[in-house]
Amino acid sequence: MRWSKWWWVVVALHARSLAQSNTPTVCEEEACRCDPFTRVICTCTQDYPEVTLRPDGAYRVPSTATGIIIDNCSRVTFLPDTVRSLIQLRNIELRNVDHVVINERALSWSPFSTLNEMNPGLRISITNSTIDEIASHAIQGRVNDVVISNSRIKVLKPFAFSSLTGVNTIDLQDNVFENIEIQAFKKFTVDNFMLRGGSINTLPSRFLSDVEVTNLFRMEGVSVKYLYSLTFLVSSPKRVLIESNTIETLEGDGFHIVTRGPITFRNNTVTNLRKGAFFGFTVDLGIASVMGPQELLIDNNTITNLTPASLMYNRTRLTLRVDGLNLNTSCACELAEQWREVLKEQGGTITCWYELEGYYISLPTYVDSRCGPFKQNFWIFVLIGVILVLILAAIAIFFIVRRENEKKKKVQIVMPDGKTYRETEFHIVVERAELLTTDL
Ligand SMILES: *[C@@H]1O[C@H](CO)[C@@H](O)[C@H](O)[C@H]1NC(C)=O
Ligand SMILES: *[C@@H]1O[C@H](CO)[C@@H](O)[C@H](O)[C@H]1NC(C)=O
Ligand SMILES: *[C@@H]1O[C@H](CO)[C@@H](O)[C@H](O)[C@H]1NC(C)=O
Ligand SMILES: *[C@@H]1O[C@H](CO)[C@@H](O)[C@H](O)[C@H]1NC(C)=O
Ligand SMILES: *[C@@H]1O[C@H](CO)[C@@H](O)[C@H](O)[C@H]1NC(C)=O
Ligand SMILES: *[C@@H]1O[C@H](CO)[C@@H](O)[C@H](O)[C@H]1NC(C)=O
Repeated sequence: MRWSKWWWVVVALHARSLAQSNTPTVCEEEACRCDPFTRVICTCTQDYPEVTLRPDGAYRVPSTATGIIIDNCSRVTFLPDTVRSLIQLRNIELRNVDHVVINERALSWSPFSTLNEMNPGLRISITNSTIDEIASHAIQGRVNDVVISNSRIKVLKPFAFSSLTGVNTIDLQDNVFENIEIQAFKKFTVDNFMLRGGSINTLPSRFLSDVEVTNLFRMEGVSVKYLYSLTFLVSSPKRVLIESNTIETLEGDGFHIVTRGPITFRNNTVTNLRKGAFFGFTVDLGIASVMGPQELLIDNNTITNLTPASLMYNRTRLTLRVDGLNLNTSCACELAEQWREVLKEQGGTITCWYELEGYYISLPTYVDSRCGPFKQNFWIFVLIGVILVLILAAIAIFFIVRRENEKKKKVQIVMPDGKTYRETEFHIVVERAELLTTDL
């Protein structure tokens, strides 16, 4: 009785392992195959437009997979824990996919117990796709690079990218972000963070939250409607480049970055630059004590609504250089008055819109040519001058005409033969005078 019971357990176990090895893997999906390098390669067709990646059961990803490469699908879904036990995995690549869904912990990968730089990491790239959702904690662990390009990202949940280790680059290029929730990138260290091109409706507070960027922080060519306070809560970059962006509203303290090097804010177009927009930049104490204060360079930007308070910066360990700031406001002497303090510190690199000519001119040049009590009232003086000249001319003409008349009168006085003047006699007098001239 007892023995037969054991026997049944052995049979059951054996059958189960047999079943596991016999159940098909994703390699047997119609759209997919596995190559000799044990990469899972899926290219969808009209008949097989979807792929679901799962950690176990039928059509699971085989534990030997070194890469997952998916192309041209209408829908790709990563179920939770898909890659957790794929120790050989190095590469996940998606191209031309209409709907990508990455569920919670789907790409959570930490196969090594020790944190060692020599341990290999994952490369995740998504190109020309629409990402319906990257769920909370979807991407975690030992990741080398994340590259998302030419894609539309509909929903990015809080902690979508979190607890990553050993990350080299996060590169988000030419994407359209629709709905980013707070703390999408949370608490990890990365060498380079790059957000380039594309458009973003709203960058919420703590988009990057407690992210240490050890080398380069770059935001370039991005169109942003609204960039909130504390959007970038970042420490340690050696270089901060914010270039060629078009930002509608940049809130105070939008960039809360402790740098270990210079900051360049160049060639950006900002409609509303709020008070203290640059106030969140500070410099690492260690760096400043060795290398001295670092420079915040503001170069060749065009800004419509701002006040000098928008350029306020933290003077501890940071210096400001304004090397080109176009105020998209009509030049006026009051404007110069408002910017006088900044001009005194920064010289002639601030320009305003010169409406008469239709280009930007240096504010001090404008002041020199158009402001001051006399210059400001120039046209009034001109007008008064013209009126004075006209009056003088009128008076002169009046006197000349009168003198001419008097001359004529003198002639007339000679003519009337001592008779007393009467109005009725006037015409006769004139006739006589004419007769006299014809006689001559
Ligand atoms: C991509 O998928 C579409 C249908 O979804 C199909 O018509 C087309 O042939 C596929 N292209 C390639 C290169 O596989
Ligand atoms: C991008 O993906 C769409 C469909 O997902 C495809 O029609 C198009 O050819 C792809 N473009 C490139 C450059 O691969
Ligand atoms: C300046 O920014 C604009 C976009 O706002 C871009 O088209 C242009 O190429 C940039 N110029 C330089 C020199 O970076
Ligand atoms: C300065 O900014 C203007 C307007 O954005 C751009 O067209 C020009 O290329 C920029 N020049 C430099 C040297 O960045
Ligand atoms: C300015 O920066 C210093 C050093 O980073 C910091 O201690 C201080 O709190 C900052 N000042 C303000 C007003 O934020
Ligand atoms: C300058 O301001 C005008 C309106 O005030 C606006 O239409 C124009 O787009 C602005 N130019 C730039 C480069 O921001």
